[in-house]
Amino acid sequence: MPVSRRWFLAQGASLAAAGTAMVGWAVRTKGGEPVAELSPDATYTMHPIGRVVAKKDEPPRIVLFDRYAGGLLGLDGWSHVDVFWWFDKSDTPQRRAMLQVHPRGDAKNPLTGVFACRSPVRPNLIALTVCKIVSVEGSVVTVDKIDAFDGTPVLDLKPFTPPDEPREGVRVPDWARGGPRKDG
Ligand SMILES: C[S@@+](CC[C@H](N)C(=O)[O-])C[C@H]1O[C@@H](n2cnc3c(N)ncnc32)[C@H](O)[C@@H]1O
Repeated sequence: MPVSRRWFLAQGASLAAAGTAMVGWAVRTKGGEPVAELSPDATYTMHPIGRVVAKKDEPPRIVLFDRYAGGLLGLDGWSHVDVFWWFDKSDTPQRRAMLQVHPRGDAKNPLTGVFACRSPVRPNLIALTVCKIVSVEGSVVTVDKIDAFDGTPVLDLKPFTPPDEPREGVRVPDWARGGPRKDG
């Protein structure tokens, strides 16, 4: 049954009044005891916001679908962007079931859990690359480099926000200077 946003918010409001909180589709009381368990078979829907265009001898670009161009407003005030993308070339049941690999495909590297390395095989094929922004024009973000293949689906962009990770040459707009991480 399709569930509307209004229904979801109404459920959240009535549960909040009853002292519970909704976390995704799981519902927990303030004490933490589960009222409805989170299922490992739960699904969350994502849609690509665009794709990586990476041609030989050209700086790589994140090309968004036109409908998302408005979401880039202000991105040019940042020096780096977190690019979340999808390992679409690994999207098979077998590769999504793998939990341990030899990192970098090198058998000399120790067998390692996929949550302890950045392997392109993993249950959820989410990749993250921090890219230096070269320019933001229209629906296109040009970056210095990215380790995604040409055509790779892009799921999300977020400005790289110090002090997530110390990095030389990071530039941020005035409003974001100092204080704890801002997620907006
Ligand atoms: C080790 S992964 C790291 C990716 C990202 N920086 C991260 O840490 O999540 C990078 C490698 O993924 C592979 N790769 C690139 N694009 C891919 C795609 N669309 N699907 C599957 N594998 C891809 C390439 O071999 C690339 O060198």
